[in-house]
Amino acid sequence: MTERFRIERVQTGPMTKTIGKTMEYYDFVDSTNSLLKRRARVGEEEGLVVVAKRQLRGRGRERREWCSLEGGLYLSILLRPPSMEDTLPLLTLLAGMILTQLLHEEYSLPVTMKWPNDIEYCGRKLSGILSQAGRDMNQNLYLVLGLGLNVNQRREIWPDTLKGQVTTLKDELGKELDLDRLLLSFLSRLEVEYMKFVQGELDVGYDPRLVEYSSTLGEMIKIESIDGVFIGEALGLTSRGSLVVECTDGICREFFVGDVTMVRKKRE
Ligand code: BTN
Repeated sequence: MTERFRIERVQTGPMTKTIGKTMEYYDFVDSTNSLLKRRARVGEEEGLVVVAKRQLRGRGRERREWCSLEGGLYLSILLRPPSMEDTLPLLTLLAGMILTQLLHEEYSLPVTMKWPNDIEYCGRKLSGILSQAGRDMNQNLYLVLGLGLNVNQRREIWPDTLKGQVTTLKDELGKELDLDRLLLSFLSRLEVEYMKFVQGELDVGYDPRLVEYSSTLGEMIKIESIDGVFIGEALGLTSRGSLVVECTDGICREFFVGDVTMVRKKRE
């Protein structure tokens, strides 16, 4: 079945005042993040959402490729939070937490969050977030929040090396999902929580939902960071969204970015 976005409904939707008030839909783009960054640089307003059916050069973290064939949800959101200080990791966590809560509540799928930005089901990746910040022509800061979610894609699209590491909502729920419904629900939930965040009413780093949904906290992990590779116990998150790990050399280290993998605990 071919996916269709009924974008007119989104454009006139009563659900969002800022995020997604203006939507642009493309059959294909290079990358929704790249397109939105270009728009942000020339002064585009906060809230524009770009959605694409396919991306030709979809990007993941660490300049990885993000497989973006038809059936997935690929979107980017332009934000201009009043204070940009430290907000990039927090808004990434916020978006992941909201999507996780949505999948729990609306699809009864107990997905988990792997710090900093992966949403997984039984250890297989369902979604990732790429947040990028920059300055526009007036030196105002902007933030582009890009989200990729595996929904109705066919499994064959992933290379053999990745097949065992990814999954789709269709695979896990046994049916095709309505991309419009997912999109609208995500945007309206994000709007509510983003408004609380900018008004200082939401302390994302200490939000109990992050602990509830996390597959990382309390676990032995390996973290590959710019400072090297460390193994240790993930103790908790800070108010800035960074991860504190008690490493095997006894030192507690704080990480702002990094690739996390679980380390199997030895049998006691
Ligand atoms: C990751 O887990 O590495 C992040 C993946 C982010 C992918 C999304 S898809 C929409 C947006 N446009 C991009 O080029 N990337 C993000």
